[in-house]
Amino acid sequence: MRFDILSVLPELLESPLNHSIMKRAQTKGLLDVHTYNLRDYTTDKHRQVDDYPFGGGAGMVMKCEPIAACMDELLAQRSYDVVIYTSPDGVTLDQHLCNRLSMMNNIMILCGHYKGVDERIRETYITLEVSIGDYVLSGGELAAAVIVDSVGRLLPGVLNDESSALSDSFQDDLLAPPVFTRPAEWREQKVPDVLLSGHEKNIDTWRYEQSIERTKTRRPDLYEKYLKG
Ligand code: 6GU
Repeated sequence: MRFDILSVLPELLESPLNHSIMKRAQTKGLLDVHTYNLRDYTTDKHRQVDDYPFGGGAGMVMKCEPIAACMDELLAQRSYDVVIYTSPDGVTLDQHLCNRLSMMNNIMILCGHYKGVDERIRETYITLEVSIGDYVLSGGELAAAVIVDSVGRLLPGVLNDESSALSDSFQDDLLAPPVFTRPAEWREQKVPDVLLSGHEKNIDTWRYEQSIERTKTRRPDLYEKYLKG
């Protein structure tokens, strides 16, 4: 799977996407992430990527031309399954959307910045606007990194234990059960006996019950979704 990410601050994407699981996914050739600095697509001597909003008001607006130049170049090279714009106005990213995106081959992401992007770019190129939650970030780069990470880890072969993505929180609208490691007793707190029993069926049942209980108390909204299946 390939991601092409357009940004005014591509440096912000480097660290989260070049360590641990995301790094391994790229080394293994399962994930291919390319970033583009929109400033490299400007033609004026000030390399201006933003400008004042028509009609006045606070904040700058991302200009059409550099974005269009970069996108046109990429679109001439391959077709994209989706062209995402990261914005608090978008649909909220959830595990179902991650699953859908993980089945695509080529994803382009435009990182929002300043007061936003000229509306004509949204109308011309963007096929999906994505938010990562109801709060405001200074820029879309962290959101883009969240999208690449949450989608990339679902690709077959990326996680060591292939089944481990299936037991994630949210994968079936349930939160994950509690986990423990050695020592079996720490500060007088014991690990539940069932987990030490070696009885696989009882362990599965216990985990499932814990998932249900956790979801009910912590996320009643998710629990409703789970019940509706
Ligand atoms: Cl995608 N961008 C910005 N700027 N803020 C956000 C967001 C995106 N998602 C949640 N907050």
